[in-house]
Amino acid sequence: MTLRGWLENVRSSGKIAFLQVRDGSGTVQAVASRADLPEADWEAVQQATQESTVEITGTVKEDRRAPGGVELQLTGFKLLHRTEDYPITPKEHGTAFLMEHRHLWLRSTRQRAALKVRSEIEQAIRDFFYCREYVLIDSPILTPAACEGTSTLFQTDYFGHPAFLSQSGQLYLEPACAAFGKVYCFGPTFRAEKSKTRRHLMEFWMVEPEVAFLEFEGLLELTEEFIRELIGRVLERCRGELAALERDPAPLERAVSAEPFPRITYREALKVLEEEGVPLPFGEDFGAEHETKLGERFGRPVMVTRFPAAIKAFYMEPDPDDRETVLGVDVIAPEGYGEIVGGSQRIHDHDLLHRRIVDHDLPLAAFQWYLDVRRYGTFPHSGFGMGIERFVAWMAGLGHLREAIPYPRMLYRIYP
Ligand code: 4AD
Repeated sequence: MTLRGWLENVRSSGKIAFLQVRDGSGTVQAVASRADLPEADWEAVQQATQESTVEITGTVKEDRRAPGGVELQLTGFKLLHRTEDYPITPKEHGTAFLMEHRHLWLRSTRQRAALKVRSEIEQAIRDFFYCREYVLIDSPILTPAACEGTSTLFQTDYFGHPAFLSQSGQLYLEPACAAFGKVYCFGPTFRAEKSKTRRHLMEFWMVEPEVAFLEFEGLLELTEEFIRELIGRVLERCRGELAALERDPAPLERAVSAEPFPRITYREALKVLEEEGVPLPFGEDFGAEHETKLGERFGRPVMVTRFPAAIKAFYMEPDPDDRETVLGVDVIAPEGYGEIVGGSQRIHDHDLLHRRIVDHDLPLAAFQWYLDVRRYGTFPHSGFGMGIERFVAWMAGLGHLREAIPYPRMLYRIYP
C-alpha cells in the first residue's frame, strides 16, 4: 500500500530506520531497511526530517510492539518536501510558544485528539436536534443590540451606525419558534470578557435550542437529555482519543449513570457553599471557586435553578413561587469545569418584558421586533445555551479552553 503524509519522527541506526508517518487519519510506524529499498529511496530516508512530506509504499505487517499493532515494511520512499527547522520539536515547549505556533501545534497527538472529540460532539449535537425534528435557524452575527449584558459587547461600525458581534442567537430564535415550534442555532458567539481565565474565550461556539410551549420543568428534562446524549456519544466513539489525552473516563461514566442529575435551587446552593466554607450572600453570582465546590460536592453535573433576578438576563420568567428569583438554570460540571449550560423560561407577557427592558437600561427601539413575539400570538417558551468549548474541555480533560477550539481568541491574542 501507498500512503502520503508527514513524518512525525525518524530514528535511523545504520541499515534500518523507523519512521512515524501521519496521514491525517492516524499515525503508522514504517520500517525502512537498506536491503529492501532502492539506493535513491534509502538516501531520501536519510535526508528526511521531522514534518517533511513523504510518500511511503510497503506491506502491512502485524507487530504487537508497534504503536497501533501494525507496521509498514517499506519497499519505496519518496521525499515530497523536505522541512527545515520545524519549530515544534519533541522537547517541552512553553504555552506562549505553542500558542504562537497554533497552526502547527494542531498536528500534535494531543491537539488532534482534542479536536477530534470536538468534531464528534458537534456531530452529536446536530444529530440530537435533527432526530428530534428541530429546524436549524442560523442567527445573525452582526446585531443592533446586546443580548447578554452590555459590558461584554464587541462594537463595530455598520455604515456609520454602531453594530455588535452577537453574544447569543437566542433573541432571534424566539420569533422562529412561532414559525417552527422547535428550533436551534449553532454558531460563533462573541464576548469581550476582560478576564484572563481558563474558562473564557472571546469567541466561542454556542448551541442553543428554543422550544414553543416548553415550560421550566420540560426545559430541565431537555437539558439533561441533551447532555447525557453527548457524553454517551463521546464514550461510545472517542475512546481512542480519550486514551491519547490520558483522560480517565470514569467521571464521564458516572455522569451518565441511571440516577438523574442532582437538581438544587440557588438558595439550596448557598447552604451547600456555606457548609463547604465558601459562603456567598444571596444576590451574588457564583465565582469559579463556588462552581468548583458545587461540582466537587456532587461529583456529577448539577443543575442549579431559580436564581436571583438581579444577576440574570432581562428576559427570564419570574418564579411564581418566589418573587425574588427567576426560572433560570445553570448546569455546573464536576472536576472544576464550571458552568457548561445556561438556560431559562422566557418572559412571554408583553408588559412585563417591556418593563424589564426599560429597567435594564436597554434601548427600547432596538427591541421592538423582539417585543412583537409577545404582541402577536404570545406563548410560553424556553431554551438554553451551551458553549461547546467548555463541554469539550470537560470531556477531553483539558486544563484550558484554548485547546478546545482550533484557533482560540483570547485576551490579547488574535494570532494566528
Ligand atoms: O449563560 P449564557 O450567557 O447564556 C446565554 O447566552 C443564553 N442566551 C443562552 C440561551 O438561553 N439560549 O451563556 C451560555 C453558555 C455558558 O453556559 C457557557 O457554556 C458559554 O455559553 N459561555 C462561554 N464559553 C466560553 N467563553 C466565554 N466567554 C463564555 N461565556 C459563556
